[in-house]
Amino acid sequence: MAVKLDLDDIQGLLARGYRGLRYARFTVFTTQNPAAAHALLSWLLPRVTPAGRFSGDSALHVAYTAPGLRRLGLADNVIAGFSAQFRGGMTDPDRSRLLGDNGESDPRCWAWGGPQEPPVDGLILLYAASPEVLDTRQAELASRLGAAGIRQVTVLDTLELGNNEPFGFHDGISEPVIQGLSKAKGTAPAGTPGGRVVPAGEFVLGYPNAYGQLTDRPLLPASDDPRRLLPRDPAGSGAADLGRNGCYLVLRQLEQDVDGFWRYAGQATRRPDGSEDPAARTALAAKMVGRWPSGAPLVETPDRDDPRLGDDNDFGYYRTDPLGLACPLGAHIRRMNPRDSLDPQPGTDASLAVNDGHRLLRRGRSYGPSTTAPAAAGPAAAGNDGHAERPARAEVAPGSGTGLHFICLVASLIRQFEFVQHTWLNNPTFHGLYDDTDPLAGSRDGRGATFTVPAQPVRRRYRGLPQFVRTRGGAYFFLPSISALRYLEQLPADAVSAPAAAATTR
Ligand code: HEM
Repeated sequence: MAVKLDLDDIQGLLARGYRGLRYARFTVFTTQNPAAAHALLSWLLPRVTPAGRFSGDSALHVAYTAPGLRRLGLADNVIAGFSAQFRGGMTDPDRSRLLGDNGESDPRCWAWGGPQEPPVDGLILLYAASPEVLDTRQAELASRLGAAGIRQVTVLDTLELGNNEPFGFHDGISEPVIQGLSKAKGTAPAGTPGGRVVPAGEFVLGYPNAYGQLTDRPLLPASDDPRRLLPRDPAGSGAADLGRNGCYLVLRQLEQDVDGFWRYAGQATRRPDGSEDPAARTALAAKMVGRWPSGAPLVETPDRDDPRLGDDNDFGYYRTDPLGLACPLGAHIRRMNPRDSLDPQPGTDASLAVNDGHRLLRRGRSYGPSTTAPAAAGPAAAGNDGHAERPARAEVAPGSGTGLHFICLVASLIRQFEFVQHTWLNNPTFHGLYDDTDPLAGSRDGRGATFTVPAQPVRRRYRGLPQFVRTRGGAYFFLPSISALRYLEQLPADAVSAPAAAATTR
């Protein structure tokens, strides 16, 4: 069924990752008082970039947490229409348990967003074509925040966008192709596992999702929107739709232990005489990811990297590699998007349809010291397969270091992000495995420290895998439509605790 999206009402981050805007900075803020929150939103509104109209050298987006929406005057019974995960927040103990945020990833140790840190009300994402433009826009924003007395909880800098994430692997290759919103990237033809079109409602609220339904979102009685700022509920209830054209945004600061990752891979692949075997080290790391450093998928080229396949996304698993002999069953990309491997009918369209309900639209950017050593220096000079030497972990303050500001956009936190994180990434028994969490980004909380590489005649099990990724901060946000931002802007600043009649659908 053809779906027409209101691109002038949708924030542009849903439509594009801004590969042309290579510089980005994310400002997490807290507002002390409602008047300041409104003043900031009035200033931001004309600067927000819609999906339908993007040109120029910068883009800006704004998203709010549940406390941030409350600060703008949205009544509790309207906020009740958002999902329970969003309302409870990422650091709710139930969420932490589900997300595997324990040990060093415990929110009490976070650099920002944790229970001991200032509350988080909102997030402003700035993208720019050059460092100069970014600095200019950021300075304008900082002075506006300062004038309004709004505190910057943290300003998350990112690395200039390149192809590789800090472990050294090509990232940002596989993204869902969204009905009416995105064009297929890479090589996968429509209809194949990589080129499959996912219903818009999996990412944009107020449109049919993979189950042909409208995902829950806050609806208001039409009388609460006399100026008709909001679109009306497409289901025909007559309610004003605060959620339509918006989505949830997950932000997690994931610190990567790059040295630890390559050290482990090096030690686990030493030759019998104790010397390092760089080719075997890279091959083991590639098995963990499911792609070679160039991005070439292991299911297409199991034995060696082939940069010509660096953007290849035209593959499934069930027909070509059901046992994981090429791409291990527990490899990062095979967990994060099992494509056609899911029950009850692997290898069929029905399997892909189940998978459609668990896709993530990723918008993350890397941070930390620039990591790519000149290729000519080689692994020996760089110490870790092309990565420059960096300070030992003990010298790195919590929250600094190197990693990924992981961002994903979804219509359902629980069915998409939380499911993928809990049931696929951190599940020690994923796909018939026994004690393996995601080798790259999994939590090892007493279990999951094994990485199994299927092979004939016997599989190889790598044990004692350290945890390579730790959570250092994070929050759940709502990325409103532009009409919802207008609605929020005109709410009376003194109505913060005033009750308002609201209707919600479940
Ligand atoms: C620091 C932590 C992480 C690193 C270094 C990392 C790295 C990578 C790399 C190198 C790829 C392959 C490139 C591509 O297909 O675009 C990838 C794919 C992917 N990652 Fe991660 N990742 C991390 C955390 C996560 C987390 C926490 C999630 C979700 C909960 C996630 C979800 C995905 C998804 C959905 C894909 C695409 C898989 C596909 O469609 O084939 N990643 N990641």
